[in-house]
Amino acid sequence: MTKRIAAADTKGLAEAAEKLRQGELVAFPTETVYGLGANALLANAVAGIYEAKGRPSDNPLIVHVAQVGQAEAFAEVTAQARQLFDCFTPGPLTVILPKKEGIPDIVTAGLDSIAVRIPEHETARELIQLAGVPIAAPSANRSGSPSPTDADSVLQDMDGRIWGVVDGGRCQVGIESTIVDITGENPVILRPGGITLEQIQEILPECTLDTGLLKKPEESFQPKAPGMKYKHYAPQAQVIAFEGTAAAVRQEIQRYIVTHSEKKIGVFAKNSSSYENTLTLHWGETAQDMAKCLFHALRQFDKLGAEVILCEPPETGGMGTSVRNRLYKAAGFHIIHTEEREKQK
Ligand code: TXA
Ligand code: MG
Repeated sequence: MTKRIAAADTKGLAEAAEKLRQGELVAFPTETVYGLGANALLANAVAGIYEAKGRPSDNPLIVHVAQVGQAEAFAEVTAQARQLFDCFTPGPLTVILPKKEGIPDIVTAGLDSIAVRIPEHETARELIQLAGVPIAAPSANRSGSPSPTDADSVLQDMDGRIWGVVDGGRCQVGIESTIVDITGENPVILRPGGITLEQIQEILPECTLDTGLLKKPEESFQPKAPGMKYKHYAPQAQVIAFEGTAAAVRQEIQRYIVTHSEKKIGVFAKNSSSYENTLTLHWGETAQDMAKCLFHALRQFDKLGAEVILCEPPETGGMGTSVRNRLYKAAGFHIIHTEEREKQK
């Protein structure tokens, strides 16, 4: 059985750090989602991550450090990288850097670049500091299912597969870090997350979003972040995303409910919306609110036995882009555009 350690349990945290250092797998809270940590210097420990998650071996991991200096041992921290780290970390940002020697190939799936992140969550940094080694950590879910945003969700996927989980309560951001690749000619966001494109452009105006982040990938599509090509965030239920004005979306969701009355329907909605004859979970009003609840809600709807999950859209731009990316993937790009429906009428 997997051990649960309270974040406030100083002795427990020290033991978890020691286990990590020795090569055990320990899940821990970050401000984005829970990570499944292993000592990044031990190839065998890292192999355990791929096994516990059922993760394809061509999908590289992010290396977590407590401060920039720790990354200099295995990554080339360029001037541009330093700017990004200075402005946004500790925080929900991952930077892809040229790789140096010193980290086993299994961490980067053989790539010559390496993903580095300095999490903001106090417990995460304390654990890394205590372990005294860089920590490779993907999200602590089984491959394909929604990322865990609390310790219960980690245990749901990983109980018996890992040594322990440090319980730090619910994650504040709720979706994964923004990944910026600075190894090419211009910086590119490979995965939008807790830091927005607009924020990064204030520092690096030439930064763009990788094309295709909000589009259904073609069979031949080879994203630069290998993980972006896999099925993701999928609950048991079928997810359908809606787009359009608030009023049109409400009307369309209402219509779906009426025409599918035989189905157990869940709606993930703004606080200001209400639907009859459904399981409704409210997220709040802003894209930030939605990010914080999304993965938790997907798991919650599964527990409630929903067959279909209908989602109201977040605002456009900013965190809305990051949420949309996760939502569309969870929906397998099943999106109902209400404007197109209107035109067809
Ligand atoms: O917020 C987060 O980033 C969380 C927490 C635990 O820190 N971690 C996380 O890891 O989301 P994971 O493994 O679920 O997603 C990492 C993504 C994958 O899509 C992977 O392909 C990409 O980062 N990645 C890692 N190293 C890369 C590299 N060298 N070049 C391009 N993409 C890389
Ligand atoms: Mg993941």
